[in-house]
Amino acid sequence: MDYIGSTSVDPRKVTTFRLQEMKSAGQKIVCLTAYDALIARILDESGIDVILVGDSLGNVVQGLETTIPVTLDEIIYHTKAVVRGAKRPLIIADMPFMSYQVSVDEAFANAGRIMKETGCGGVKLEGATEITLQAIRRMTESGIPVMGHVGLTPQSIHKFGSYRARGKDPQEAESIFKDAVNLEQAGAFAVVLEKIPAELAKKITQTLKIPTIGIGAGPHCDGQILVYTDMVGLTIDFNPRFVRRYARLYETILNACKKYAEDIRNLNFPNESESY
Ligand code: KIV
Repeated sequence: MDYIGSTSVDPRKVTTFRLQEMKSAGQKIVCLTAYDALIARILDESGIDVILVGDSLGNVVQGLETTIPVTLDEIIYHTKAVVRGAKRPLIIADMPFMSYQVSVDEAFANAGRIMKETGCGGVKLEGATEITLQAIRRMTESGIPVMGHVGLTPQSIHKFGSYRARGKDPQEAESIFKDAVNLEQAGAFAVVLEKIPAELAKKITQTLKIPTIGIGAGPHCDGQILVYTDMVGLTIDFNPRFVRRYARLYETILNACKKYAEDIRNLNFPNESESY
């Protein structure tokens, strides 16, 4: 398989063990979200290391305002599709709101369902409450790899009231730092740092042995993740400063659809060679 612009992509299947090796070797970990087999295949071919089936699917696929309503069954459905589409990347499924907060037993059972029914390589959950940390211990002891997520945690939108950057004041920064350390101690194999100051992300990255994956957390993280629809310019109403657009697919698709409609209305499609 060819990886445009990068001849150094290791063709082996990405595992949590491999991510640890990449951190130790100072190789950046490249991550994106995906929600279906079609895009997962493209991400795989491009050499992406980790695909997250994020609960951002609520915002970008389902047209919801928040990630709160996303269900476990929906995450399982989309993760199955992504697993069918991608072979090399490590595929991680987000645990939706209320699928891991009620009790350790419930969190454990739900993570087990995700692993058994989808064939993905691990789960991600937000925050570091006592129940969450206990659940992570139970999952990792039983062979379920867990990715943590601190800083801006979109499932807590109603607690914070906004999607502002986190950890700008020293008290909040200290609490995010402690959460990241606690996640590592509970057994997480990596931790997402979302929308926090670059210096705080640097301190966490230098302190933790496990890889940090940043989104709006500056250049010092061990890896980076973006929501793929933002990165390819399919979403146009979401413009935080941490999103870099590598394509303008909204416009491309819009223009293609307009041309298609024009051709049908002007009797230019289908032509003779497109007919039987
Ligand atoms: O749901 C999601 O896509 C995420 C990433 C933005 C990290 O949690």
